[in-house]
Amino acid sequence: MKVLVIGGGGREHALVWKLNQSPLVKKLYCAPGNGGISRFAQCVPIGADKTDDLLQFSIKEKIDFVVVGPEIPLCAGIVDVFEMNKIPVFGPSKAAARLEDSKIFAKEVMIKANVPTAFHKVFTSSEEAIEYLNKKSVPIVIKADGLAAGKGAIVADTREKAKGAVKLILDDRVFGSAGDRILVEEFLPGEEASMFALSDGKTVVPLLAAQDHKRVYDNDKGPNTGGMGAYCPAPVVDPVMQERVMRLIVEPVIQQMEKEGAPYKGVLFVGLMIADNEPKVLEFNVRFGDPETQAILPLLETDLMEVFLAVHEQKLDKIKLKWKQQTALTVVLASGGYPGEYEKGIAIQGLEALDDMNKVVAFHAGTSCKGGIFYTNGGRVLNITALGSTIENAQDRAYAAIKRIYFDKMHFRRDIGNKALQRLERVTNESAGK
Ligand code: AMP
Ligand code: GLY
Repeated sequence: MKVLVIGGGGREHALVWKLNQSPLVKKLYCAPGNGGISRFAQCVPIGADKTDDLLQFSIKEKIDFVVVGPEIPLCAGIVDVFEMNKIPVFGPSKAAARLEDSKIFAKEVMIKANVPTAFHKVFTSSEEAIEYLNKKSVPIVIKADGLAAGKGAIVADTREKAKGAVKLILDDRVFGSAGDRILVEEFLPGEEASMFALSDGKTVVPLLAAQDHKRVYDNDKGPNTGGMGAYCPAPVVDPVMQERVMRLIVEPVIQQMEKEGAPYKGVLFVGLMIADNEPKVLEFNVRFGDPETQAILPLLETDLMEVFLAVHEQKLDKIKLKWKQQTALTVVLASGGYPGEYEKGIAIQGLEALDDMNKVVAFHAGTSCKGGIFYTNGGRVLNITALGSTIENAQDRAYAAIKRIYFDKMHFRRDIGNKALQRLERVTNESAGK
């Protein structure tokens, strides 16, 4: 088969890397791809949001299957366009992608399906939102309804900050029409986890859960980023919790989407907050997580192409996913300044040293390749994933690999995995009655 992956970050590198292992896949393309992806796939210089160009390319190259990575083309309806042209594609329709495209729609679905989530109220006027905030305690969360590149949720620890966020979104229009409406949402304490489930519209199958690290600095300090690291499986989602999330959240939502006339096909990413063993939904995404995918896919033994075909053909009930009994841990190496302004085009040294390392993969998030040399080309540059028998072991391997890599002003978190280790220690102490 000829397969086109749409997107050009670390998530797409992991997808391409895994699809490349499938005997069903004869040729891989990635649009636009990146420096690292070009080792496995032919990179095509078409942006992920250029639906018409991607369609024309797929027709011309007789692409057999398309996998869509990012949310922007999914929410714009790329799946509907490919399906109309009889090109098989992995991802939800535009109507189903509303679960990510509109946080208010997602809340309406959750309320109808009785799914646990934070209490919220919708506002279009900043005066009314501010009047409401005057009656509420802090912390409190302000969210733009639409897509805002991961920046649309503001957790405010003072009322002043909350009011400032309301004004920025509704009056200053910092997110454009994505901020036509806002949600003021109850703050949920707890531990976050990212849970993923595949759905073919009829059958739902969970993937291993992962934990992301959104803040830029160690111990969850500093501004939010796209994600600075992940590990999988996340001990906070043990098999009992996974079963609860499937029963209380994923299955009712998938059934409700069918009732809404928008059956869900693809991967559903459930952002969870877990406190006292009670999972609540923070958000839905209609795609794989980044960098979670870079920690999940290296553990999957099943052929990913078979999985995507099963979703497309609604035969997910015939697939049994097999996983390596290991832990994967991913550390993001970022450009100096990220998540703010940063330079591009800095030469990366030491990547070839990783080729000889067992159970370590360098997924490229933002690189370019010229004359065999890799250069930085984004905020998040590399995702170093290591597999290990335990979290500690995977952590040691990942950080040992990072010691071999260097680019000017590179920065990364040094505590990826610590939360899982602390949790495991707590659980061990509790069961020993300490
Ligand atoms: P979202 O874009 O909805 O995932 O929000 C981004 C981040 O904000 C999440 O990963 C959480 O860390 C935080 N967050 C969002 N909603 C809430 C909430 N209701 N309570 C506490 N933290 C939240
Ligand atoms: N890692 C969070 C996301 O993919 O949105």
